[in-house]
Amino acid sequence: MSDVFFVGCGPGDPELITVKAKKLIQKADIIVYSGSLIPDPILKLCKKGKLHDAAKLVREEIFDLLYKNAKKDKLVVRLHDGDPSIYGAIKEQIDNLEKKGIKSIVVPGVTAFLASAAALGTQLTLPGVTQTIIITRAESRTKVPKRERISELAKHKATLIFYLSVHLLSKLVKEAVEGGYKRTTPVAVVYRASWNDQKIIKGTLDDIVKKVHDEKITRTAIVIISDVIDPETYEYSKLYDKNFSHGYRKIKNKK
Ligand SMILES: C[S@@+](CC[C@H](N)C(=O)[O-])C[C@H]1O[C@@H](n2cnc3c(N)ncnc32)[C@H](O)[C@@H]1O
Repeated sequence: MSDVFFVGCGPGDPELITVKAKKLIQKADIIVYSGSLIPDPILKLCKKGKLHDAAKLVREEIFDLLYKNAKKDKLVVRLHDGDPSIYGAIKEQIDNLEKKGIKSIVVPGVTAFLASAAALGTQLTLPGVTQTIIITRAESRTKVPKRERISELAKHKATLIFYLSVHLLSKLVKEAVEGGYKRTTPVAVVYRASWNDQKIIKGTLDDIVKKVHDEKITRTAIVIISDVIDPETYEYSKLYDKNFSHGYRKIKNKK
């Protein structure tokens, strides 16, 4: 019996894959991959294995593929876009495999919000603005606990990041404003971050819905609400301040 590998392959740019993930894909006998979000050049790394598109399968069928092939000692890879731990539904599969005595190994990947921050060329935490990032989704068919309502999370005025929610943008905006964000708060929507057809739409809580609607973006986007996108002011970091000493550097130019 072999282990099953849950592997993240990054946000889209085939070069944003880890060396570990690449080697596993090259050697895999069976790959179950997450539909259209896995780019072709990454699937083509698989030279001898059989590919199965998970988008066409239900949980039990995916489990059967993982379990039966691991039992036959095959190298089995469940390939996820981004990082498997972010909205990846891996826990249920890991637990069910464990019940059958099969161990799972998770290989992390670059998740979409990090590729979006890179596309924006920004920093998600800024001294004097916020030191916190909240990652969430809007409620639709998947329920979100009441204590995690957007209007509750918004009270922190942290950097608020949404997966799986761009089609509900007007709801996000309404609740973010109810929670206390000013209508002038910057918002960025990054569509297909790191892909060749990546789009960045920037605005404020006041105008972002129209801008995104005009671009006809309804899926595969990250929404970021935060003053860090376009800060009126911020502080420089302490770490590199000449008057700040730490374990690796004493204060410079001390008189
Ligand atoms: C089921 S979640 C999977 C997230 C993935 N595991 C990750 O770590 O990025 C799918 C959602 O991730 C976001 N997403 C995935 N790839 C993206 C990309 N390249 N650019 C922007 N958003 C992306 C979108 O919000 C999309 O609806």
